[in-house]
Amino acid sequence: MTFSFFLLPLVLILSAPSTPGSPWSCPSECVCRQDGQVNCSGRELHSVPRILDPGAQVLLLGHNHMDFLPPGAFILLPGLLSLDLQCNGLQRIHVHAFWGLGVLKSLDLSANALQALEPGTFWPLRALHTLSLAGNRLMCLEPAWLGPLLLLQNLSLQDNLLSSMGSGVLDRLPSLRVLNLHGNPWVCDCSISSLCRWLRSHKHQVPGAESLLCVSPDRLTLRPMAAITEASFHYCTQPLTPWDMVVITMLGPLSFLASLAGCFIFGSLVTAFQAQRKNRSVHCHRVKRPIPQTLGLADASENSTTNFPTPSCSL
Ligand SMILES: *[C@@H]1O[C@H](CO)[C@@H](O)[C@H](O)[C@H]1NC(C)=O
Repeated sequence: MTFSFFLLPLVLILSAPSTPGSPWSCPSECVCRQDGQVNCSGRELHSVPRILDPGAQVLLLGHNHMDFLPPGAFILLPGLLSLDLQCNGLQRIHVHAFWGLGVLKSLDLSANALQALEPGTFWPLRALHTLSLAGNRLMCLEPAWLGPLLLLQNLSLQDNLLSSMGSGVLDRLPSLRVLNLHGNPWVCDCSISSLCRWLRSHKHQVPGAESLLCVSPDRLTLRPMAAITEASFHYCTQPLTPWDMVVITMLGPLSFLASLAGCFIFGSLVTAFQAQRKNRSVHCHRVKRPIPQTLGLADASENSTTNFPTPSCSL
């Protein structure tokens, strides 16, 4: 399977039509230029056309209808430097879609419908230095979704649904110079503390850093993220006191003992109650005889006892 996957490009390249002067075919839907630009944008495409020009350096596929990128979608274009996939309604990218794009420098995935990415999707893009994910529906960003992208300098994340970003994301982008973050509903709780810290020391790398506002919690609503001090997150990192440790350690054994004691007390009560009931039952049988007198039945015959109902003690 893997073998044939790698063999496929070779077979296709060898079997490609070769006409003198123009050895590589240009798909009928696209316009191919001598300088390596292949323009397939706005052609109502639903899938990546089969482009067999290994000299292709710029591939424009924007404004089409590709909602999914399959594995190895660009495997035949190892020299590609720039790939534009904006405005496609892209919902899903296969984790191996970008295989073979080892020299790609610029990837535009803006204005699509991406909600999540599979970890490792961008790993083949070792040379990437510009990535746009602007205008998608990303709600969070996991460190493994993006990085490591050691050469990435420009990252656009504006106009998504991001409410937080874990510390690991930026740690894996050591060359980052420009980060676009505006147009996201940032929630300024503990999970965003590392981003706020990063913003304070890298303000000049974030266009419009002063206008990045928190949408919640209430006490920080509409506060600029870059102006939130470390003190605001003090409650997140409060270390446990020795007393906290004692309570946490003892909680388990103590609750076990408490439940044992509870069972013991409950059992004792039930036993005591049953014993008392037994006693009362014996007592009722003993006091059968005096009952007629107390009811004032003076003319009761000697055998009246037999007529009286047995007092019931079953409560
Ligand atoms: C690519 O083709 C489209 C449609 O013909 C055109 O509008 C666009 O300007 C072209 N892009 C470039 C960079 O040449």
